[in-house]
Amino acid sequence: MCGIMGYIGCKEAAKIILDGLAKHEYRGYDSAGIAVIKGGEIQEIRTTGRVSVLAEKVAKANFTGELGIGHTRWATHGGVSERNAHPHISSDNRVVLVHNGIIENAREIRTDLEARGIAFHTETDTESAVQYLGYVYDGDPKGAIVKLTKRIRGAFALVIMFYDRPNEIWTARKGSPLVVGHAKGEGFCASDPTALLEYTRDVWFMDDDEIARITREGCEFYDFSGAPHEKKPMHLDWDAAMTNRGEYPHFMLKEIHEQPDVVAHTLLGRIAGEKVDLSHELAWTPEETEKWKKIHFVACGTSHYATAAAARIMETLGNFEIRTEVASEYRYRNIPIDEETLAIFVSQSGETADTLHAARLAKNRGARCLVITNVRGSTIHREVGEAIITPAGPEIGVAATKTFTAQITALTLLGMYLAKLRGELSPASERRLISALMDIPGKLATILSKEREIEALARDFADARGFFFIGRGLAYPPALEGALKLKEISYLHAEAYPAGEMKHGPIALLDKELPVVALVPKNGLWEKTVSNIEESMARRSPIIAIATESDEEIRHYTSHIIFTPETEPELYPFVAVIPLQLFAYYIARQRGCDIDMPRNLAKSVTVE
Ligand code: F6R
Repeated sequence: MCGIMGYIGCKEAAKIILDGLAKHEYRGYDSAGIAVIKGGEIQEIRTTGRVSVLAEKVAKANFTGELGIGHTRWATHGGVSERNAHPHISSDNRVVLVHNGIIENAREIRTDLEARGIAFHTETDTESAVQYLGYVYDGDPKGAIVKLTKRIRGAFALVIMFYDRPNEIWTARKGSPLVVGHAKGEGFCASDPTALLEYTRDVWFMDDDEIARITREGCEFYDFSGAPHEKKPMHLDWDAAMTNRGEYPHFMLKEIHEQPDVVAHTLLGRIAGEKVDLSHELAWTPEETEKWKKIHFVACGTSHYATAAAARIMETLGNFEIRTEVASEYRYRNIPIDEETLAIFVSQSGETADTLHAARLAKNRGARCLVITNVRGSTIHREVGEAIITPAGPEIGVAATKTFTAQITALTLLGMYLAKLRGELSPASERRLISALMDIPGKLATILSKEREIEALARDFADARGFFFIGRGLAYPPALEGALKLKEISYLHAEAYPAGEMKHGPIALLDKELPVVALVPKNGLWEKTVSNIEESMARRSPIIAIATESDEEIRHYTSHIIFTPETEPELYPFVAVIPLQLFAYYIARQRGCDIDMPRNLAKSVTVE
């Protein structure tokens, strides 16, 4: 994954790059590095550890220059060491670069260059690119980059400086995200647009097979043959303040608390009177929606669980044939995809490699494709075209929270809209659901007001060996998401099962040290879930119930209860997920974990 950043302008590059890298840290945080060029000389500092460690080293060094690049690493090829940290410099000290992605034929290039007498110094795939550039560079940066793009295979976003080019930074992209920005006398590039918000909101998202030259005067774009082309900037509607933690100790907690607003914003402009209206985003006619016999939801991780919730909601709305698939499986199975398929890709970042490749596959097979993403202009958005953008704002905590609720809001509206176009949603159901959706922000605020209660519960259970999460029907997707949150940030084993499936195997694991979090809304499945609670109690598992406000009977089974407000049955995932996010957060906090940057994880997974 990794995050990369480049700057050219009139200020100290190091400060701007270090600030930018801190905003990229969610993309990788096992090592970091920075290089500046001054007077034809490349200066560089690299370190293992966080950007803060790098900043300390930079502060102690005489490190000055107005042209620089930086990197924060999530190791793929080569262990975590100072030597393997980027930037990498060619052996002849003429070229320096940072890379996000994987160069698949690195070994072959290395063998070839070593045979020509070029010494390699790291175990990284990236070094093959910089050494190759050093080898072919003859004073023409664009020509050298064009040659490089023909020689390397794989995914890359590269930011490059040449020792004798003090007035330009070069970038090249294929498969890994990169955004370029310009302000008066200053040029920038970064993996994530949030790093640029402080300086400019007019940016160019680089496309695959594109090269850019960034100078103080502006940006020029070329294709991989070196031919120039015009490119229009895109205006970002995010605000720099959104990338600050404010009074919260962690971004994750801040983002959990933003959810009532996020749901309200996602509904805004998509409801007219008591009716759902997505016509300004989706150019769908009733006739073509009739044609889509199959609906495929494709996503990864939390976004996948949002689609699991969406599928169950949609099944209550109309006669849909739905499949929900993890993107990395969708690509490699022999699933029938054709013109009768509506394929919906969900990705908060819009950059997840598995989801992106799955979208390309579905497009090639003639499916009608739609993306739901939080990042306007992201790669999936640009490639798929038709989109619903969730206005959750930048999500910095590695564990997704507010984007999950934004996704299920958008997906619920989408399901209603589709059912309506097909004539399957009655006006009464539409009114009932719209009114219930409008009440969701208030209900989420009510749950958030129970934060101290949830914190106390987490304190009681922070030493558990692991957790089971169980739920049936619409309670199952939030159980999956609750378990994922817990394992991601607390490193405790947590597993979610459809409550009725426990007896088919997993129940063997239960004992007094393995608590069961039971999602038990007061609906038609309440008694069945309570039976599963009893089965767990019989194995001496402590029970934590996520129950409906009016449900006094649940007190017969456990005293560990978080009550959630009543809602229409279809919307249960909204109210269920918030206490689970808070529970995971406080368990992780109790265990002293690094909540915003959990080990081994990166937020945007741009490798397969
Ligand atoms: C979990 C989490 C990941 C992502 C997954 C997909 O907290 O953040 O599981 O949901 O990597 O990412 P997007 O939605 O960006 O495609």
